Amino acid sequence: MPATVVVGTQWGDEGKGRFTDLLAKEMDVVVRYQGGHNAGHTIVVDGETFALQLIPSGVLYPHITPVIGNGVVVDPAVLLEEIDTLDAKGVDAGRVQVSGNAHLIMPYHQELDRVTERRLGHNKLGTTKRGIGPAYADKATRVGLRVQDLLDPKIFRQKLDVVLKEKNAILAKVYNRLPLSADDIADTYLDQYAPRVAPMISDTVGLVHEALDAGRHVMFEGAQATFLDLDHGTYPYVTSSNPVAGGACTGAGIGPCHVERVIGVAKAYVTRVGSGPFPTEVHGELGTSMVDRGHEYGVNTGRRRRVGWFDAVMLRHAVRLNSLTEIALAKLDVLDTFDTIKVCVAYEAEGVRHEQLPYHQSVLHKVRPVYEELPGWGSELSGATSLGELPGAARQYVEFLARQVGVPVGLISVGPSRQQYVTLSPADR
Ligand code: GDP
Ligand code: IMO
Ligand code: MG
Repeated sequence: MPATVVVGTQWGDEGKGRFTDLLAKEMDVVVRYQGGHNAGHTIVVDGETFALQLIPSGVLYPHITPVIGNGVVVDPAVLLEEIDTLDAKGVDAGRVQVSGNAHLIMPYHQELDRVTERRLGHNKLGTTKRGIGPAYADKATRVGLRVQDLLDPKIFRQKLDVVLKEKNAILAKVYNRLPLSADDIADTYLDQYAPRVAPMISDTVGLVHEALDAGRHVMFEGAQATFLDLDHGTYPYVTSSNPVAGGACTGAGIGPCHVERVIGVAKAYVTRVGSGPFPTEVHGELGTSMVDRGHEYGVNTGRRRRVGWFDAVMLRHAVRLNSLTEIALAKLDVLDTFDTIKVCVAYEAEGVRHEQLPYHQSVLHKVRPVYEELPGWGSELSGATSLGELPGAARQYVEFLARQVGVPVGLISVGPSRQQYVTLSPADR
């Protein structure tokens, strides 16, 4: 059975969690393929809010097999805490299957993330300080510890001793920090975490392929987003993994031919947390009203998100990078009160018009957005359940975005709850 990928098309927090949850109803397996607990995916069901970091957003349906793929970096403390929180809400998340090849986030990764950001001062990236970058760096330099090492205390300790020697030297000599104790780390990981994590460790590549071969529906859930991608994002203001749809292949162990549908989740405007270029950023009163109406504060870190108008140049690039087959458009209701709504249709820099993203980032830092203005609709969308219930101006806005971006909009969300969405039939697209 062909697979589906859900991917963020902007700078994260587009509403991937809520759309993954929505789509998971028709799926059998949902696989997270990259990132770690830097993610915060919100799902609202019957007034109850679930904020997921590591566990795939399909977990709320008992029929789903949730999988954490090899491309994810796992902090076992966070994983276990998330399972306990979900358990307390009546969701059995202990059934999650975790790849033995996924890398572990260790205490020194978090410490290094914190001190590196501090050292960078005003050049900081604005990371989530969860140890994501240092963990992926260790994976690339081949000194990382993997989830499967929890099953072999001798190997775990050997690897830890080697790597900690270097980390402690850096922490002490470069950052003037106290060294971490290998005994303490080993006790925590092997005595506290390993017994609980062990039953979840499995051959997730085998699991995914058996599901595909048996004709079951498998969905790959991206965290972060296209423009936070290590290769394709606004480097260095990116995360350290590959959120783009191709990341599902490496991060879960499938070839590209399995993927038939790639759903790009986009906000009806744009937000970004942390540093980096943002051509359509809006400040002042207008920005504050977008933040307030959209409740634009990070799910985990509580940071205020930067906000701006929809950027069709970015989205065109996201279509290319991910082979998007459709857009799921989130938070259209947030724009309810605006008299006019701007859409960036091109950039301009030094007299040159750019319809596609300039490849040189120095240009991106200089561009001015070229806007088209559309009329607002001045009424509440939150109760709409069909396209016909959307006012003409809202439909016009959606059609305009789809034309600008070059792929159809298949789903629109008009509120955070599971029921607050509109499906566009193929004839409506
Ligand atoms: P993710 O990281 O892409 O899963 O997105 P987040 O969960 O970090 O951020 C999206 C936020 O918008 C969450 O607070 C959601 O509950 C909320 N949300 C999602 N869809 C809608 C929508 O259509 N309208 C409104 N008003 N809020 C939404
Ligand atoms: P979801 O999955 C928004 C941002 C951070 C920072 C940069 C690097 O909820 O969309 P990192 O801790 O990954 O090294 O930080 O990436 N970032 C996110 N921004 N949503 C996320 O996840 C993010 N995960 C990381 O703010 O700018
Ligand atoms: Mg988020």
